[in-house]
Amino acid sequence: MRILYTPIMQVTACSILLSACVSQPSGFNKYVPGLGEIMGQISTRHTKLWYAGAAQNWELAAYEIKELKEGFEEAGKLHPTLEHIIQRLPVLFAGNVQKPLEHLEQAVKERNLAQFTQNYEVLTKACNTCHRATEFGFNKIKRPTFNPYSNQIFETEN
Ligand code: HEC
Repeated sequence: MRILYTPIMQVTACSILLSACVSQPSGFNKYVPGLGEIMGQISTRHTKLWYAGAAQNWELAAYEIKELKEGFEEAGKLHPTLEHIIQRLPVLFAGNVQKPLEHLEQAVKERNLAQFTQNYEVLTKACNTCHRATEFGFNKIKRPTFNPYSNQIFETEN
């Protein structure tokens, strides 16, 4: 049998296609990074922060602290809970890393290397405390011993 392609069919086909587009949820293509991925970024910032501070590049250090804060904030928003942990992630972040990050900010503001070094250790310990609290204690963080970012200049020009 021959099917006659009528204008009515054309309209129907168009509206089916259109409704398929319109009915897609608005965030359809939105990519949500996993907590492990965000933590990978946080780890990068943690390393860069050390080399920025050690070079007394306070501007860069301040930037990395800000990025760390944003990373924790984003992680808490995108992943507020972990199925096996009672405490919510934003609460865990606030309880563990907020204070050390504030103290680091202060050290950077005062351009105080000794204070920076001391608070960097406190921050690193806080990473591990939270890893243990979330049963990810096998992810052990330490102060970096070599700089893997050879394509970035950490020293200031003067
Ligand atoms: C909520 C408390 C919490 C804090 C604070 C925290 N983490 Fe994590 N971290 C986690 C959890 C939970 C995971 C496991 C996430 C997953 O894989 O789903 C993780 C995983 C990691 C991983 C493994 C990811 C990978 O891809 O290898 C690294 C590295 C890491 N964290 C670094 C850090 C560093 C550095 C800090 C401190 C500056 C820090 N974390 C602070 C909870 C925390």
